[in-house]
Amino acid sequence: MKVLIITGSPHSKGTTALLADEVRVGAKEAGHEVIRIDTAKLDVHPCLGCYHCRDNDGRCVYNDDMTQIYPHLLTADVIILVTPLYYFGMTAQLKRVVDRFFAINPILRKTPKQLHLLAACGDKDKWAMDALVVHFQTLCRYLHWQEGEKVLAIGAYTREDLKDSDYPTRARKLGAEL
Ligand SMILES: Cc1cc2nc3c(=O)[nH]c(=O)nc-3n(C[C@H](O)[C@H](O)[C@H](O)COP(=O)(O)O)c2cc1C
Repeated sequence: MKVLIITGSPHSKGTTALLADEVRVGAKEAGHEVIRIDTAKLDVHPCLGCYHCRDNDGRCVYNDDMTQIYPHLLTADVIILVTPLYYFGMTAQLKRVVDRFFAINPILRKTPKQLHLLAACGDKDKWAMDALVVHFQTLCRYLHWQEGEKVLAIGAYTREDLKDSDYPTRARKLGAEL
């Protein structure tokens, strides 16, 4: 299978980068083709809401790094979103990319895929990621994609906080069991 990992953190050696590394290793060891896209390193404009794409066969007015992502998005069997929690949602870096899915909505909604979620946050409250999870579930529902697994690392302000937890192992297992 083709697995597309899309990360949203600006920290290349941060908490969620570790989860992304682990899921990648697990999926590779299981023999999958794995592509990783770090959205924070890309030049992706936020959607203008101009609807040019709707009237022009999915072509966006922007010719930015989203053009590198669309081909993988269309051909991936599995998509894994990886994000730190920023104000109870995904990061803006990742959301910019997700909003730009809009241009190719009709195709995406007809293409079966699995969507998984890996996330980390500092708070230890059980409800800390509720809004993010509902968003993830709603994306699956709207896109007609299979709702996959979640690894939600609470109490993880930094990568160090993951050291004594089972979250990295769970991320690797998720990749291995795709
Ligand atoms: C702008 C910003 C917003 C954040 N919002 C939350 C939040 O709403 N809840 C929370 O528990 N942690 C929040 N955090 C903490 C991060 O989710 C946490 O430090 C995470 O481990 C960072 O992951 P990273 O190293 O992969 O970027 C926030 C951090 C930043 C910088």
